[in-house]
Amino acid sequence: MLRFDILTIFPEFFGAVFDYGIVRRARAAAFVEIHAHDLRAWTTDKHRITDDRPFGGGDGMVMKLEPIFAAVEDLTRVGSSDVEGSNSQKRVVLLSPQGRSLTQSFAADLAMNAKQIVLICGRYEGVDERVAAHLVTDEISIGDYVLSGGEPAAVVLIDAVTRLVPGALGSETSAVNESFSDGLLDFPHYTRPPVFREMTVPDVLLEGHHAAIAHWRRRAALLKTKRNRPDLIERAALTEEEKAWLDEN
Ligand code: ADE
Repeated sequence: MLRFDILTIFPEFFGAVFDYGIVRRARAAAFVEIHAHDLRAWTTDKHRITDDRPFGGGDGMVMKLEPIFAAVEDLTRVGSSDVEGSNSQKRVVLLSPQGRSLTQSFAADLAMNAKQIVLICGRYEGVDERVAAHLVTDEISIGDYVLSGGEPAAVVLIDAVTRLVPGALGSETSAVNESFSDGLLDFPHYTRPPVFREMTVPDVLLEGHHAAIAHWRRRAALLKTKRNRPDLIERAALTEEEKAWLDEN
């Protein structure tokens, strides 16, 4: 069982997002549990304030650190939240555009090794830096763009991790052949009809010659990766023949 605890000032944001598809099934089968907590529950002042003006001046507000520290300590304390396991099985993730990029291998590491993941969703201009420096195990960004808060990023991370929890996908092998598992994008997929408005399906896929299909798929994945994500080609493990072929195509 992997437990996610989301810390947010908008717990209602997560209303139904985890009620569909693989995440829904993984929850129903008790592979994962997902809880959204209102950060204001850990404030101690009358107005339940979670943000304040930045030291040094400037625009915008900064999320205060005391409620965040109190919440994380509460949720990860031994005996609380039903989570057993060593400290290394408890991860505390801050979602922020300043984080390391979320990757398939990071998601797989969490899915295989974590028992509890606390997700801190920042808002406003940012979160007091002492949270990133002294409280979290990982500061993670889901891409080079700025969201208005960490909540959508938490949904993305939970989805990416949950489908890699052993058993959650149903057929254990389905995640093995997909995009990024070998550092390349996935190959193109087709289904019926074979012709639609003169748009055809590659003949090789209709002929049932398995080795030829595997060869076509590998080449199509290479081409698509070169076109859409040349940065991935640089790092992929390619044979000399594949490199030569890509140079010509
Ligand atoms: N919060 C705001 N932007 C974000 C991003 N790109 N990734 C993660 N959290 C964020």
